[in-house]
Amino acid sequence: MLELDDVHAGYGRTAVLHGVTLTVGAGERLGVLGRNGVGKSTLLRTIVGQLPLTAGRIVFDGRDLSRRPIHVRAREGIAYVPQGRQIFPALSVLDNLRVAAYATRRADWKARLEDMWREFPVLDRKRHDPGGSLSGGQQQILALARALMTQPRLLLLDEPSEGVQPSIVDEIAEIVRRLNEERDITVILVEQNLDFATRVVAHAHLMDKGQLVRDLPAADVLSDRALQHEYLGV
Ligand SMILES: Nc1ncnc2c1ncn2[C@@H]1O[C@H](COP(=O)(O)OP(=O)(O)OP(=O)(O)O)[C@@H](O)[C@H]1O
Ligand SMILES: [Mg+2]
Repeated sequence: MLELDDVHAGYGRTAVLHGVTLTVGAGERLGVLGRNGVGKSTLLRTIVGQLPLTAGRIVFDGRDLSRRPIHVRAREGIAYVPQGRQIFPALSVLDNLRVAAYATRRADWKARLEDMWREFPVLDRKRHDPGGSLSGGQQQILALARALMTQPRLLLLDEPSEGVQPSIVDEIAEIVRRLNEERDITVILVEQNLDFATRVVAHAHLMDKGQLVRDLPAADVLSDRALQHEYLGV
C-alpha cells in the first residue's frame, strides 16, 4: 500500500532522514520505535506531505505522491495525528471536527460527524465543551476523530500515548486496534512507549539517526533489554 524508497528529508539545510526505505502492506499495523530526536516525527510529516522530500520516492497504492501537496495526499487517504495532538483548545469539540471537515470539503461531513459521535461517546457527551477542557486522553481521542473525518485508509499516529493517563492509554490502544480490524485502516504508529506500542503493533522498525536500522517482531523488542537500551534509551 505504501512504499518509501530511499527517502531523504529535513528542515532547510538540516538533513534528518538519510535514506528511509519501507514497505507497508494494506491492513498492517506497524510500529516505528526510537529515542528522542532520531527523526520519527520527521518521517511521518514527510509521508503526509508537511515536509518536502529532498530525494527518494513515496508511492501510495501505486501512485507516486513524492511531489504531491498535503491536500492531495489527504484525498488519497493518508491522515496524520500529530505529536502533542494540536487540537484547537478554544474551539468546541464539534468545531474541532468541523474544521477538519471543512479542510477536506467533504460533502458527507455530517454523516462522518454522526459516525464520530457513535464511535466515541465521550466526544458526543462533550461536543459543546472547549477542546482544551478535555483530559489529555480525551484530546487524543479528539485528534484521532479529527483524522478519521477524512475517512483515511492509512493513519499515521505520532506518540498517541504521550501525556495520557494509563487508564486511557489502554482505551487508545483498543481504539487503534479496532479501527484497523473493523474499518480496515492501515496504521503506522510512532512511539517511545514500548509497552503501549507492543499492545498495538505486531511488527516494529527501529529508527536511529534518520534511518530504519532493524525490523523485527515487537515481542522481540520487549524481551531484549540490550536492544531497548541501545535504541530506546531505557
Ligand atoms: N522544525 C524544525 N526545524 C529544524 N530542525 C528540526 C525541526 N523539527 C525537528 N528538528 C530536528 O530534527 C531532528 C529529528 O526530530 P524529530 O522531531 O523528527 O524527532 P523524533 O524522533 O520525533 O523525536 P521525539 O521522540 O522527541 O518526538 C532533531 O534533531 C530535531 O532537532
Ligand atoms: Mg517526535
